[in-house]
Amino acid sequence: MVSAYAELEGRMRDRLGGRECLYVPSCRFGLYLALRHWCEPGGRVLMSPVNDDVIFFVVLAAGLRPVQAPLDPRDGSIDTAAVPESVWRGLSAVLTTNLYGNPDPAPELRAHCDRLGIPLIEDAAHAIGSTVGGRPVGTYGEASVFSLSKHTAAKTGGFLTLADPKLREELAAARDELLHPGRAVDELAYLARPYVEAALRGTRLVRPARAAVRLLRMEEREEIRMPLRADELRRALPAAPALAPFHSWIRVDMHAYRLRPGPGRLRRTTRRLARLDGVLAAHRAGTARLLASEYGTPGATAESAQPLFRVPLLVEDRDAAIAALARHRITTGYVYDPPLDSYAGEAFTDLSPAPEAAASFARHALPVDPRRADEVLGALRAAGARPARLSEAPGGAR
Ligand SMILES: Cc1ncc(COP(=O)(O)O)c(C=O)c1O
Repeated sequence: MVSAYAELEGRMRDRLGGRECLYVPSCRFGLYLALRHWCEPGGRVLMSPVNDDVIFFVVLAAGLRPVQAPLDPRDGSIDTAAVPESVWRGLSAVLTTNLYGNPDPAPELRAHCDRLGIPLIEDAAHAIGSTVGGRPVGTYGEASVFSLSKHTAAKTGGFLTLADPKLREELAAARDELLHPGRAVDELAYLARPYVEAALRGTRLVRPARAAVRLLRMEEREEIRMPLRADELRRALPAAPALAPFHSWIRVDMHAYRLRPGPGRLRRTTRRLARLDGVLAAHRAGTARLLASEYGTPGATAESAQPLFRVPLLVEDRDAAIAALARHRITTGYVYDPPLDSYAGEAFTDLSPAPEAAASFARHALPVDPRRADEVLGALRAAGARPARLSEAPGGAR
């Protein structure tokens, strides 16, 4: 029987030069599968502290201890040279983030992983069109994961991709065992969602509209970071590895993260993936304009004009900039502040050996949709937003 996922997987395989691709209902679910396959519970995983908290909880659910990496304050990528040898030696895997589409230094991380005999797992959720070292992000690791909720905006689905195609059957079986059956009501809610959103966008009744969005579980965070609920989390940890005890943290913003998809969901996702090249071209053009502005990353080069999912402009007063954009009805998402080590503390993670650069980046980064580059630049300039001066950042590195 031809798998219901075959067309989606074939399209993604073509993008990644023939790499084996397995459809998963969400990137977070694919990451859990990868961590469970490659990492013995109790191991330590190097990851970026400027990351979605959902990913932090996936690492905990896999029975692993997060180890927060030092970052480059210009783009939030992992600063490989600043990781002490004692930290490398204690790791059982490296997990990249490729924050907003800016690649982590995969060739260097690959070399470290080879030297240590540990797996590299790439989270390419934000980086579906990005390249590093002349290759697509997501082609360096034993495994990589992609989200179809980002550039493709399907709001469902993703891929687990594998360096070794012989592992396909085993990981497909692991996936199928963890999937929950999809219910007709979930499929209907998914299919109705764009129409509900369009209707809500047309109304100026902001508060009732937001309440309706929450009711439909389209959005559930009150703040940037979800509440950690440390006592509950401490009680859940001994049950790892398992998804169920961590469900309330991992499902945030996507309750269907482990549901078997219905045919309508797959058809819509396939249509959206087919249009990806056009979307990437628009992201690349907007990225180039934003990076060339006074708010762009200092020293950004042609190599950094990737089709970023969001462009992290660097502004002095990020919260004022968010408010200025909101006045133009431009909402800002994907802000990851504070870094995960400040958010969760030593009880739940190893702290970064050099946290200042990550804290500075997290405080000043304003993630902007590159397709709205001109509107955003106009609004920021009109509000008098000042570019961040990173040379004055606490790390003082640049
Ligand atoms: C860096 C990163 N990785 C993974 C994910 C999870 O993707 P999905 O929603 O497809 O599970 C997100 C979600 O925003 C993310 O920001």
